[in-house]
Amino acid sequence: MWSVAPTVASGDTVILWLGRDIIQALVVTPGKVFNGRYGAFPHDALVGVLYGSKVFSQKERGFLYVLRPTPELWTLALPHRTQILYLADIAFVTSMLAVRPGSTVIEAGTGSGSFSHSVARTVGSKGHLFSFDFHQDRVDKARIEFLRHGLHQRITLAHRNVCKDGFGLLDRADAVFLDLPAPWEAVPHVKLALRSDISARVCCFSPCIEQVMRTVAALNENAFSEIQTYESLLFPQETYSNPAPPPVSQITNALKESEIKREQRRLRQISNAQLRKRKRDEDADDQNLKRPRLQDPAPSDPGSSSSVPQPVPDADPDHRAPADLPDNPPKIVVSKTIPEVRGHTSYLTFAILLPSEFRPRSHDATTLDTNIEQSATKQEQSVQ
Ligand SMILES: C[S@@+](CC[C@H](N)C(=O)[O-])C[C@H]1O[C@@H](n2cnc3c(N)ncnc32)[C@H](O)[C@@H]1O
Repeated sequence: MWSVAPTVASGDTVILWLGRDIIQALVVTPGKVFNGRYGAFPHDALVGVLYGSKVFSQKERGFLYVLRPTPELWTLALPHRTQILYLADIAFVTSMLAVRPGSTVIEAGTGSGSFSHSVARTVGSKGHLFSFDFHQDRVDKARIEFLRHGLHQRITLAHRNVCKDGFGLLDRADAVFLDLPAPWEAVPHVKLALRSDISARVCCFSPCIEQVMRTVAALNENAFSEIQTYESLLFPQETYSNPAPPPVSQITNALKESEIKREQRRLRQISNAQLRKRKRDEDADDQNLKRPRLQDPAPSDPGSSSSVPQPVPDADPDHRAPADLPDNPPKIVVSKTIPEVRGHTSYLTFAILLPSEFRPRSHDATTLDTNIEQSATKQEQSVQ
């Protein structure tokens, strides 16, 4: 597939990672300059750097990371010509269709080639992907990309309306994936293209439930079994590190200290109020009653058994004040859901076509099969 060398070479397709939402593919072409949000990056500066490196812009105002492409990164970076399949759906479809090294898979339509790249990697050099689209320009662009990414031996790409003309393949595929506006129209052709000696599988992607209902009806009419539909949602998480909260003992000590200070302030206020009251009483006695004064000890007399409250000692001599907290508290890793969900909701309808000897007879649409079979035989050579 893509370059496996440790360093970037002229002509390599690389992924430029400028941020979570700015991921771009680039063919390294000496002499050209990539102008991005974070400055200008001459392609020459990328040649020879290790894949995964951080590269600074010409004026060192910004930077980006140069990454080796993978099907997952390609899905995030590819030029969109259509709606595409994202990782959650791709992974689920691949798993449910039991696609593995050596599998023969059919997909329609090719679209932007997001699904094609992942499947081509999974089937490996011993498997094959037949990919169809009825849009000529999309076929041409996908062909260039598959060639550039070294996938042309694993993918046969054909310009074809699969609903009208079928796949031109007979008893050939282990699995079929349909991402079309009207997949039910292609279901009779899927039946012909799937192998009749194994339990072969199909998946139809549909964004709305009305399409699912028509697809399920078509699958039933064509003898498919174990028909199941799943709704698929993607909730990516963002992970980052925050300062860890101080240990509980430190927090309780800080609370105790603040309680002690508040109690000392309260006792001081009581003592001052008592002093003021005593002063007022003495003045009143002197002026009005002329009676001998009670000799209360002065509240500030050292050592006296004054009613002035004494400072409350520290409840815990080992406590640490907040000021004693370390300058660089340890960090903890937290995770939260990213609000903008990139993968959209889909319905994925799966079904199995049992080996021909186990298919229910009541479902045999013999006339239809014969017609499509004849046309498939004629067209098979044009696909290969
Ligand atoms: C949503 S896109 C497929 C995206 C693709 N799964 C991906 O991951 O990039 C649907 C494609 O199906 C093609 N298409 C629609 N009807 C078709 C038909 N009857 N035969 C062949 N291709 C068809 C469209 O031209 C379009 O490119």
